[in-house]
Amino acid sequence: MHWNPGYAAVAVTGAANLPHRMDPLEQLKRDVPHRIDSATTIAELDEIEAETVGRRSPIAEARRGLGAIADPAQRGVTGKAINDVAVFLSAQIDVRRGALESVEVNARLQADRADVTLPGRVPRRGTHHIIQQTIDEIVDIFVGLGYQMVQGPEAETDFYNFTALNIPKTHPTRLESDTLYLDYGDGDEEVLLRTHTSPMQARHMEEHEPPVYIVVPGKVFRSDAIDATHLPVFHQIEGLAVDDNITFADLKGTLAEFTRQFFGPDTKVKFIPHYFPFTEPSAEMHAYTQGKWIELIGCGMVNPAVFENVGYDPNTLSGFAFGMGADRMAMVRHGITDLRTMIDPDVRTLEQYR
Ligand code: PHE
Repeated sequence: MHWNPGYAAVAVTGAANLPHRMDPLEQLKRDVPHRIDSATTIAELDEIEAETVGRRSPIAEARRGLGAIADPAQRGVTGKAINDVAVFLSAQIDVRRGALESVEVNARLQADRADVTLPGRVPRRGTHHIIQQTIDEIVDIFVGLGYQMVQGPEAETDFYNFTALNIPKTHPTRLESDTLYLDYGDGDEEVLLRTHTSPMQARHMEEHEPPVYIVVPGKVFRSDAIDATHLPVFHQIEGLAVDDNITFADLKGTLAEFTRQFFGPDTKVKFIPHYFPFTEPSAEMHAYTQGKWIELIGCGMVNPAVFENVGYDPNTLSGFAFGMGADRMAMVRHGITDLRTMIDPDVRTLEQYR
């Protein structure tokens, strides 16, 4: 292709449209307002200001040129023209700056705003284990009846666990098949994991004058294999009341009141003769709840032999004692049929008993 009419046409048109040189002040007046209006930040506006009315701007340059105009009248006219443009542009810059400032302030306020209506972050709420909840509730009821809570050691001596409680040397519960021994010392000094909370009866009476009204929650240990109704570690709550003139009627009234507070006011109770070496007479208290009779509490009048073992006078004092399984109370209360639920570490199991 040798000849391109398009190219020739462009060249001619371009030459014809060359802008004539405009007065720089007129040019500022014409172009700058548009730039001012489209500035979106204060920094951008500062730049426009410096370029147009600042110290190195065409306006400053024009002002510096004034001295070269010899005719004072002409100088005055030119000076005023320069000033008019400067005032005109500065006024527009100020207006725009005001607008941009409020936009920026609003944006900052918006960014800093705390939405107080947002729901807070709720921490995961923990809870006591169902056995601890049950122990707390039972102890609370007895505290309400005037009892004091005390606790004793889990590693116990043969003396407090058996001998002081009138359990004979030949009793089968002392066998290794039932009791977990820690240290085979001599006789009473043997150390074992307590098989019940009753040793605290003896410990407390040795240390305190009557009257005594105590409840003793705690862990107990037996050499049992785990199944639905046995755990080698479980929990008991012991009770002991010693005073002048305590009778079996006090025992019945106290345990019936407790049972009604724990299971509900209509709960019926009955006492069936039983045997424990440390109480005489002894009984098992059964409660009628959830449509059936359930054996709940071992109890009886403190055996005078126990009073003698701890230095209390059996002729002037009487008392009653009772013991119940906290795990069992929790199971009955919550309708749990397998004791192993109590040692299930699965959070989903535990969360059911909040
Ligand atoms: N210590 C008994 C047991 O573990 C319960 C009990 C306590 C019975 C107090 C009578 C009096 O089975």
